[in-house]
Amino acid sequence: MGDLHIMPGSRHRPHMKKPLWIIVLVLFVCVFLICAYIYPPQTSSGCYVFSSRGCKGFTDWLPPLPAREYTDDEIAARVVIRDILKSPPIVSKNSKVAFMFLSPGSLPFERLWDKFFQGHEGKFSVYVHASKTKPVHVSRYFLNRDIRSEQVVWGKISMVDAERRLLANALQDPDNQQFVLLSDSCVPLYNFDYIYNYLMHTNISFVDCFKDPGPHGNGRYSEHMLPEIEVKDFRKGAQWFSMKRQHAILVMADHLYYSKFRAYCQPGLDGKNCIADEHYLPTFFQMVDPGGIANWSLTHVDWSERKWHPKSYMTQDVTYELLKNITSIDVSVHVTSDEKREVQRWPCSWNGIQKPCQAHIMRDFDSVCCSLVTVFFPLLRTHVVVVGFDCM
Ligand SMILES: *[C@@H]1O[C@H](CO)[C@@H](O)[C@H](O)[C@H]1NC(C)=O
Ligand SMILES: *[C@@H]1O[C@H](CO)[C@@H](O)[C@H](O)[C@H]1NC(C)=O
Ligand SMILES: *[C@@H]1O[C@H](CO)[C@@H](O)[C@H](O)[C@H]1NC(C)=O
Repeated sequence: MGDLHIMPGSRHRPHMKKPLWIIVLVLFVCVFLICAYIYPPQTSSGCYVFSSRGCKGFTDWLPPLPAREYTDDEIAARVVIRDILKSPPIVSKNSKVAFMFLSPGSLPFERLWDKFFQGHEGKFSVYVHASKTKPVHVSRYFLNRDIRSEQVVWGKISMVDAERRLLANALQDPDNQQFVLLSDSCVPLYNFDYIYNYLMHTNISFVDCFKDPGPHGNGRYSEHMLPEIEVKDFRKGAQWFSMKRQHAILVMADHLYYSKFRAYCQPGLDGKNCIADEHYLPTFFQMVDPGGIANWSLTHVDWSERKWHPKSYMTQDVTYELLKNITSIDVSVHVTSDEKREVQRWPCSWNGIQKPCQAHIMRDFDSVCCSLVTVFFPLLRTHVVVVGFDCM
């Protein structure tokens, strides 16, 4: 700091008859400094007026202007979030993974999941939110595991409500440490131990999150979400997450950001097609704990056809090669929806090691064609005869 400009040290007693021009000069300098504080210099040439070392030198001398004044609700939300994030994880001796199924009714792959769970009693729990019809269960692991449900409309906040309802129910069991959201068309790609260890030995949550400047991303943002949610924090991602307990509690604690999405992220509102379940959690975590999420989901899904819905796997598609291909993907890919169609690729790293990403659960097995499939699930080391299921 040796080169700081120091005001002249010796102070002379002011003369009573101070020449007018000194007062004018002092006033001029004051006005100049006040103006410079209120309207900070934007161009680099402006910077050199104040300091030969560039913009930094001048603004460093002044107290930083607060970004903006937080509302009461925001201050309250921030202290709660900060304390939840600071609290150390509660280590349970019987840590369990909560598998939470979001389904319209019966689960076409219940028998497959039954096989997956067999022999691992005490290390998992199952929750089913069936939004249309009461499911008929064929597996003992699913019996009496239906939670109170409500109607779910695709794209609406009721989807997020169902996710929160599942989380709330699963959080009631203090042994649940990881919370996996699944659809009725998900199937496991690995055996239980692999998935259990994958989830238990990491301290991040797998929430899909990326920045899409295009119409299906930021194009859905509404300025009504201001001041709490700025467009720079608006994110997109698939809804299928796996979350650690601390993050599940964060979601329960959030009312502020959730209510903004409930009010201003709806299909057809203000001519925008905002899909709450694709934006609420990615944006929320981007704001409160960006380093705590992986930014990709464990649930594989194929969007390469660029349609409204991802690719469905038909009977003839489900081959050993396909499963092998999916389990070898170790880079997560997001494509923006603007005309640039920028492809964002991130290696999927698990505790710093690049590993298969989605390797875990696969979505959109077509339930209509399931009655014909006989598949060898390499990582379950078993043939799963998907015949005679109660296909919907
Ligand atoms: C996760 O743990 C690693 C070390 O085990 C640590 O470096 C990292 O900061 C932790 N990440 C979070 C989000 O807590
Ligand atoms: C996820 O993305 C955010 C930026 O949006 C970044 O800060 C964070 O480190 C990323 N997470 C991981 C695990 O790399
Ligand atoms: C598997 O991956 C290979 C190489 O990328 C590709 O040629 C093949 O078509 C894929 N097979 C399936 C069934 O997806």
